[in-house]
Amino acid sequence: MKALVVGSGGREHTLAWALLQSPKVTEVVCVPGNGGTATLARCRNLALNPSDFEGIARFALVNNLELVVVGPEQPLAEGIADYLQDQGLKVFGPCQAGAQIEASKAWAKALMVEAGIPTAQAAVFDDEAAAQAYLQQQEVPIVVKADGLAAGKGVTVAHTLEAAAQAVTEVFSGKFGAAGSSVVIEEFMVGQEASVLALTDGQTIRPLVPAQDHKAIGEGDAGPNTGGMGAYAPTPVITPAIMERVQAEVLEPAIATLRRLGIDYRGILYAGLMITPEGIPKVVEFNCRFGDPETQAVLPLLETPLQEVMLACIEGRLDSLDLQWKPGAAACVVVAAEGYPDSYPKGMEISGLDEAAATGALVFQAGTRLKGGSIVADGGRVLGVTGLGDSFEEAIANAYAGIDKICFEGMYHRRDIGYRVQGIAAG
Ligand code: AMP
Ligand code: GLY
Repeated sequence: MKALVVGSGGREHTLAWALLQSPKVTEVVCVPGNGGTATLARCRNLALNPSDFEGIARFALVNNLELVVVGPEQPLAEGIADYLQDQGLKVFGPCQAGAQIEASKAWAKALMVEAGIPTAQAAVFDDEAAAQAYLQQQEVPIVVKADGLAAGKGVTVAHTLEAAAQAVTEVFSGKFGAAGSSVVIEEFMVGQEASVLALTDGQTIRPLVPAQDHKAIGEGDAGPNTGGMGAYAPTPVITPAIMERVQAEVLEPAIATLRRLGIDYRGILYAGLMITPEGIPKVVEFNCRFGDPETQAVLPLLETPLQEVMLACIEGRLDSLDLQWKPGAAACVVVAAEGYPDSYPKGMEISGLDEAAATGALVFQAGTRLKGGSIVADGGRVLGVTGLGDSFEEAIANAYAGIDKICFEGMYHRRDIGYRVQGIAAG
């Protein structure tokens, strides 16, 4: 079978790589892809915009691509899955109505309330004056969120009411475009964050191994948030008992409520969770796609061929799928360009990629491109290097052994990825 992957990040390189692990997948085309997917065997890039649904459909139909996997949230929120399905294609990723679970935090919050899913208390405003008046009655810390997609930059955890008020003003200032037409103000939750990415065919919902990512740019989880500086799986913070609660209190009610709303949600439902000190999983947010860089840690542990898993979701057969995992742990360390998450340079040549791969580490490229036979940096998060091992310690050491071979001007990575799980044996 031939497959098409939409997107250009580390997640998409990982999806293409994972699909190609199966001998049944003969070719993957990435739209538009990156330097990693341009140089991966049996993979190639197609220079189309992910919002060019018509172009993607035409290419997929003419070339008999039997599976389309959508990486990022933006095209899903724009309705790519609906469009391609109408053209007769098999698409892994939810319909536009389902993607609202990520595209509108207000909509997602209403769904959680209706489903009885544990989450932060929240109020939603589409009027700045009302939001500011409400805020004055609240205690800090408090969380202010732009309603719509804001590329991970729409959330402020405010430690003073002044900072919260400033964040509300920013949301309504137009800084986040259409995402700023309303604001969600919610209770601050205490605990450890974890990501449960679940597969669903609209009826059955089953978690992948749980992961944790490091959002902050600096070591010790200090400094501004990023798209994610590293991740590891399966995280022991989600114990089997907590996973049972996630299944019963979060995943099942979410999919049942989506169904009740007439939404046939097929693909990944990503629950961003806060595990409270009492061990209660509360939802921070839902995403309608694979996490980045969680995918770089989770998919290398999957034993069952990914295309079989995805087809089971698309065809409504997830209940009979035998989902197998490799033993051990995986850790992904992200390598970024100097200056990320603010402004950063591009175009630096990257050396040592083959040497890194020769150590056994999996080198997934993110913001890179192929330029005259060399791989050059082309984004903030440049690479994600995944190590595997029997223990977290080994997996983490293997990721860093790979990174040690890689060099480009100004490269930055955290040295402490996985510090919470160092020394813990993996399941
Ligand atoms: P979100 O985009 O909603 O996941 O928010 C981004 C980050 O802000 C989360 O990963 C958390 O670290 C933090 N955050 C969001 N909402 C809350 C909350 N209610 N309580 C504590 N932290 C939060
Ligand atoms: N790593 C967080 C995300 O993908 O949203």
